Amino acid sequence: MAKYLITGIAGFIGSSLARALLAQGDEVRGLDNLSTGHRENIEEVAGEIDFRHADLLDLGAVRDACDGVDYILHHAAIPSVPKSVLDPLGSNAANLDGTVNVLIAARDAKVKRVVFAASSSAYGDTPTLPKREDMLPSPISPYAVTKLASEYYLTSFYRCYGLETVSLRYFNIFGPRQDPSSPYSGVLAKFITQMLAAEQPTILGDGKQSRDFTYIDNVIHANLLACQVSASAVAGKVLNVATGRRVDLNETFAILKQLIGYKGEAAYGPERAGDVKHSLADMASAEKYLGYKPVTDFEEGLRRTIAWYRTRQLTAAS
Ligand code: UD1
Repeated sequence: MAKYLITGIAGFIGSSLARALLAQGDEVRGLDNLSTGHRENIEEVAGEIDFRHADLLDLGAVRDACDGVDYILHHAAIPSVPKSVLDPLGSNAANLDGTVNVLIAARDAKVKRVVFAASSSAYGDTPTLPKREDMLPSPISPYAVTKLASEYYLTSFYRCYGLETVSLRYFNIFGPRQDPSSPYSGVLAKFITQMLAAEQPTILGDGKQSRDFTYIDNVIHANLLACQVSASAVAGKVLNVATGRRVDLNETFAILKQLIGYKGEAAYGPERAGDVKHSLADMASAEKYLGYKPVTDFEEGLRRTIAWYRTRQLTAAS
């Protein structure tokens, strides 16, 4: 049994990680300022976790949270490209300053390893596909810059202080508990809930933009591996976490339409500022260093996600 600290535990990914760790008998402590996460995501496991309502910018609280911890899964962030375009200072403080605080506290508390939720947005709009970790990054949005700079900090803490770090570059993660309600929500959470409510989703741009949409179970799998494998394989590294397959938005809408039984068509709106056209991961390094292979594919992930939102909708209506 190991002791984990999950930053951003009330978020969609953080709360899913907490459930997986509890299921395998680990001890879980969580930190969240509840700015984008929701208490209801951890309600069901509230009695089993040590939850701390605190901000990463409060270094004292982060230090307290790191005390006695083996592994940190660092997921707290303002997870939105458009939000960062509107408020770069806010994103920088939460995502980058927050990360430096986590690293300082982890180093001083002698935490074994820090696994970080990095982002495929670091690759930006470079034409080469698939994206390999050794390609020169080209972040477009302030969000992408905060995630990339955080990766550099992780690697530097490994190089300078020997703190074992792994940055997992997530490619458009989706699944149950992803918040569909904000204008900045991930496209699948939005489209699924809109279509289930017989509302019309809007494709921003021509719908030919593509993504390597990755179901949450793959992320959980990668995080567990990132804590288990030897330091010589992963410490200081940056690794893609995705599926190695991309689907464009028009196609995605057509698949959802069929799975949901939606009768309407999508609306089209203006392309979003800071948007990346195509995104697809090369999975060779994750396989080589982590032993990672996707465990759930896109369609199966969609089925499970739709089922979850459907149940939630029925529960809310009853
Ligand atoms: C980006 C990152 C992702 C990161 C996420 C955090 C890339 C390739 N991916 O996701 O790794 O976790 O930021 O927010 O940089 N869209 C619509 N209609 C909508 C909403 C979105 O058409 O109602 C479109 C967007 O314009 C975009 C695509 O759907 O082209 C995906 O958008 P979104 O789900 O917000 O994620 P990314 O910005 O791709």
